[in-house]
Amino acid sequence: MPHNAPDLLLTHARLVTLSDDTGYGLIDDGALACREGHIVWIGPNAQVPTTLRDAHEVHDCAGMLVTPALIDCHTHLVFGGDRAGEFEQRLLGVSYEDIARQGGGIVSSVCATRAASEDALLDLALARARALLADGVATLEIKSGYGLERDSELRMLRVARRVGEMLGITVKTTFLAAHAVPPEYAGRADDYIAHVCETLLPAAHAEGLVDAVDAFCERIGFTPQQTARVFAAARALGLPVKLHADQLSDSDGAALVASFDGLSADHVEYSSETGVRMMAAHGSTAVLLPGAFLCLRETRMPPIEQFRAHGVPMAVATDANPGTSPLLSVRLAMALACIQFRLSPEESLRGATCHAARALDLSDRGRLVVGQRADIAVWRARQPAELCYWLGGDLLDGLYIGARRAP
Ligand code: NIG
Ligand code: FE
Repeated sequence: MPHNAPDLLLTHARLVTLSDDTGYGLIDDGALACREGHIVWIGPNAQVPTTLRDAHEVHDCAGMLVTPALIDCHTHLVFGGDRAGEFEQRLLGVSYEDIARQGGGIVSSVCATRAASEDALLDLALARARALLADGVATLEIKSGYGLERDSELRMLRVARRVGEMLGITVKTTFLAAHAVPPEYAGRADDYIAHVCETLLPAAHAEGLVDAVDAFCERIGFTPQQTARVFAAARALGLPVKLHADQLSDSDGAALVASFDGLSADHVEYSSETGVRMMAAHGSTAVLLPGAFLCLRETRMPPIEQFRAHGVPMAVATDANPGTSPLLSVRLAMALACIQFRLSPEESLRGATCHAARALDLSDRGRLVVGQRADIAVWRARQPAELCYWLGGDLLDGLYIGARRAP
């Protein structure tokens, strides 16, 4: 075997490359070679150069669909306890905001998370992450925000990093201490924000645990002014920002995060056209979270047409969390984005691959093109639209992470 033989060669694949800005970039009977974790050749099966045919591992895909591995760019995967009781309350007509105002909601997950050990949180998070991997995910974002005090926030972020190490996947960590006012700061939101900016964020950053900073800007979260203080602290440390923006009401969140050159504005159901224009001007991605939209029985649609018209890329993610979106499948999020938001299956797939990568500031993945990481999903499907069409089911034939087959 020549010493420069590829590590992996996929043959007879129906490749969805997403190589251009529109269209699937289909190569019907295609092949793809990888070396040192990256794609080194891609093209028609009949044209594989002889030098690449002696790969260490050859997988005949027999016409199966092959896409970039999925990327979940918005999750709250680390938490203790569950909120099934609140789910039942909501079914009886109590609103999410009322539950939060009565001391439930995020704060109830904070209590359970504070009480859990690092190993217990890790076991819980690993099981959830494995469910995402089983449906094609190879890159994941995980937020803190159920600790809201130093040790618990750091514990959550350490657990997130350990999930990445143990599963051999990329985990991007997001610091979300400005998720809710913790009980010990009740009525003193400004003091808590000062504590977040002056103590919690620097401590997490000093331990190398923060890839980006997020906040919940909302009537039941923080004001735009408080959010701006958190963003200013983040930017002073050189950290990028993103925002839970305009989820339940228009707080000008999309414009605010864009004004800090934010990576993304997430949820965005109530965002105004001014916000959309600001996002376009500053290159912020819209992260659509159709699981939360479904579970909250939201009726206000995100401004999808405006995102299209202004050229704002749309990502799609699970928002996996114990309150508003106990959703552990990116494919199901993609399906919900089609059904609820009328995204095309192509937009949904881009949303969970190249546009999700953009929302995480990762330029090395999300498409099947030479030079990109060999994070690849092989599906028991023929049509790209099937990825959004089947609700559940076991479509994943294999997942390659850096050209290695995931167990
Ligand atoms: O993305 N909106 C704020 N954060 C989460 C919900 C968290 C929770 O309810 O625990 C969200 O929907
Ligand atoms: Fe969220």
